Amino acid sequence: MRLMFIGDVVGAVGCNFLASKIRDLRTRYRADILVVNGENSATGNGVTTASVKMLTQLGADVITTGNHAFKRHEAQTVYDAVPHLIRPANFPEGVYGKGLFVLDMGRARVAVINILGVAFMEPLANPFETADRLLEKIDTPNIFLDFHAEATAEKKALGYYLDGRITALFGTHTHVQTADETVLPGGTAYITDAGMTGPENSVLGVEKSAAITKMRLHIPTRFTEAQTPCFINGAVVDFDEKTGRARSIERMTER
Ligand SMILES: [Fe+2]
Ligand SMILES: [Fe+2]
Repeated sequence: MRLMFIGDVVGAVGCNFLASKIRDLRTRYRADILVVNGENSATGNGVTTASVKMLTQLGADVITTGNHAFKRHEAQTVYDAVPHLIRPANFPEGVYGKGLFVLDMGRARVAVINILGVAFMEPLANPFETADRLLEKIDTPNIFLDFHAEATAEKKALGYYLDGRITALFGTHTHVQTADETVLPGGTAYITDAGMTGPENSVLGVEKSAAITKMRLHIPTRFTEAQTPCFINGAVVDFDEKTGRARSIERMTER
């Protein structure tokens, strides 16, 4: 079985570009399952009813998020209405939404989980313990993790910690694709960051001059989506759905 993961989709421009290419990509990569990080899918970040509807209509089986999971006022309504939209699992008890979704593919069940890193980020529950806790309650060997984190070392360490226990770890959040995709010794596919989907000529999707002003002058600056040609970043994992072990991981960039 093959799962395609798409890195953080940025705004309406990113969603529209993905919509225009996804049918062709799925055919070319023979992807049975599509997982999309949607934490920036609404223009201005976060998720909205409209952005989640768009990603669902273009075929996303599961939508993951990250540090922007709850950015929008309507977020709770969206999480309550859409079970295949998940948020990082390491938020405290009582926070709406879930960090796990299990897809029934007929011949196999496939779990997708989402965890936030804590290095240079919010001091949430320990990602390693959060992963252990989630794995205890998942009863399929096919487990895919979107680890939304800033620090390379934290992602590598969690990858090795979970090697042989999950099918794949896709890092997200930096919006910059890394060239280190590999299947770890225990059979877990790994990439430090899947990258982003949206305007390429930009600072992480944001219009360049606004980002430069913010970085150079340290004054509040309104960020807008860049309106430059888009690209899609992601990765495709081929796995044995009987054992949950990955056979290969292929990095993907589509312009
Ligand atoms: Fe993002
Ligand atoms: Fe993020």
